[in-house]
Amino acid sequence: MFCSWALKFLPAAPAAMVVLVDLLLMLLDLSYSILCAVLQTLLPPRLKSVEGELCLITGAGGALGRLFALEFAKEGAQLVLWDCDTAANEHTARLARDLGVKVHAYTVDLSKREHIYEAADRVRAEVGDVTMVVNNAGVVAGRRLLDCPDELLERTLLVNCHALFWDYCASKFGAVGFHESLALELQAENQGGIKTTLVCPYIVNNGMFAGCEIRKELRSLIPPLEPLYTVQESMKAILGEQQMVCIPRLIYIPFLARVLLPWEANLATYRFMGGDKCMLPFINRTETKVT
Ligand SMILES: NC(=O)c1ccc[n+]([C@@H]2O[C@H](COP(=O)([O-])OP(=O)(O)OC[C@H]3O[C@@H](n4cnc5c(N)ncnc54)[C@H](O)[C@@H]3O)[C@@H](O)[C@H]2O)c1
Repeated sequence: MFCSWALKFLPAAPAAMVVLVDLLLMLLDLSYSILCAVLQTLLPPRLKSVEGELCLITGAGGALGRLFALEFAKEGAQLVLWDCDTAANEHTARLARDLGVKVHAYTVDLSKREHIYEAADRVRAEVGDVTMVVNNAGVVAGRRLLDCPDELLERTLLVNCHALFWDYCASKFGAVGFHESLALELQAENQGGIKTTLVCPYIVNNGMFAGCEIRKELRSLIPPLEPLYTVQESMKAILGEQQMVCIPRLIYIPFLARVLLPWEANLATYRFMGGDKCMLPFINRTETKVT
């Protein structure tokens, strides 16, 4: 919020000065976000109106999806309901229409990308542009990881994760979740002999992220990792039966901050570090290569 001011008002200032001012402004942003978060927990939140919004709810035939649909209907939102279970979805649609709002129900299998694209095109043509999305649809395999058939695992990931969007960051979030569930499952079954280690390295200097760079004044503080160092540190953690390792240790800070600090405070530090723009040179490079 405040960070970009430094560059606007100090165009000719030395880089170190700009970083210092940006650092102070980031700390101001961070303190402000924490203060707002504390106040928000004490004061009742101001709720926005969704009247007239076009709200798409996935898994609308299910328990929570139906309740979401009815709550949004009570608030006056027009609804687009998606579910692969046509009968259950239609039932939700009838209940919501009884509350006096327009409802459009579509049978969509979210595990199939082409179904999602087709349904999205139909909604755009028949109803209009959706303004809110509740990504609620989900399935649960309910089996131990090792007993779960491949098709069920695939379906779970396709519906619960891939249907939302496809990118590297989401896949890594999925990998962290997979590690946690596997580690807990092994623990619950007293499989003490099987150890797991989650390795979370910063950018490694092997070309995978060539071009991806944080703010230039801070690059020497966290330079890309050497591949051999990364593997050696990982090995230490694996052989030491460590549950998790961040390389370098500085990476523990954003890991902890993500869960401890308010969203805006994380955003302020992320921007200060240049995290919001770090992938741009990488993306440009990749696009140039492809075209
Ligand atoms: N119920 C819980 O205790 C609980 C707890 C935490 C999170 N959740 C999550 O909340 C969400 C809703 O759960 P629920 O309890 O209402 O479950 P539910 O089983 O009652 O509803 C899920 C709905 O998703 C639909 N669905 C499943 N696969 C689909 C596909 N491929 N394409 C389209 N629709 C599909 C189902 O037909 C069903 O109507 C899920 O994402 C679930 O993981 C549920």
